[in-house]
Amino acid sequence: MIAIIGGSGLTRLENLEITHRQIVRTPYGEPSGPLTFGHIGEGEAVFLARHGYAHTLAPHEVNYRANLWALQAKGVTSVIAVCTVGGIAPDLAAGTIAVPDQIIDYTWGRPSTYFEGAEQPVTHIDFTYPYTQALREAAIESAREVGLHVVDGGAYAAVQGPRLETKAEIDRLERDGATMVGMTGMPEAALARELGLGYAALAVVVNAAAGRGASARAIPVADIGPVIEESMAKVRMIVAKMVERHGHP
Ligand code: HPA
Repeated sequence: MIAIIGGSGLTRLENLEITHRQIVRTPYGEPSGPLTFGHIGEGEAVFLARHGYAHTLAPHEVNYRANLWALQAKGVTSVIAVCTVGGIAPDLAAGTIAVPDQIIDYTWGRPSTYFEGAEQPVTHIDFTYPYTQALREAAIESAREVGLHVVDGGAYAAVQGPRLETKAEIDRLERDGATMVGMTGMPEAALARELGLGYAALAVVVNAAAGRGASARAIPVADIGPVIEESMAKVRMIVAKMVERHGHP
């Protein structure tokens, strides 16, 4: 089954015909909220709001381990992660949707592995290509089928937040090779890999990163709301197509 983890602006999937909700407890604590099960067309899916259904959890407060563990416990094999990002590369203007293919992790202090503690063997997963290529391709293909363009590839810089960045920080991320910046991509992607789950992201650019474009002097935070709304309508269409095509048990 496919899971959709919704980020800012996607706390509900309106086109999901809900069958039931379930609270799942895990050895790592509670997920961000109950899991919402349902279907879109013929495809089954489960939805989870990453920041909680009332958007109360900051990126560093999300229990990523509990979220992914709970999804896998309920039969999920693939995760579509929806997240918002600031655009660093010039082709990532606000309103663009990207399917990144790389990650650089700048987060700290977040529980970021299942392989720790006395009973766990030390395990080093391969993470050369952090996203699942087949799932990335399904996202890109589904977007094409509903007539939407997405940017194929890009390096997602995962930062700690919740504050936005300084211009110098964005300059540094750009020198490092990052094309977009967000706060929730890690450790989520690595934990998915540790569990053997397929994982791909739909990264919605909601603002130019600090010091870039329309954010040259300041990030126009008030402009972000309408961009999120418009873009998440597109994300719903892409996700629906992915679930219809690939969401069979
Ligand atoms: N920086 C970090 N995270 C973000 C941004 C940003 O500019 N926009 C949306 N999420």
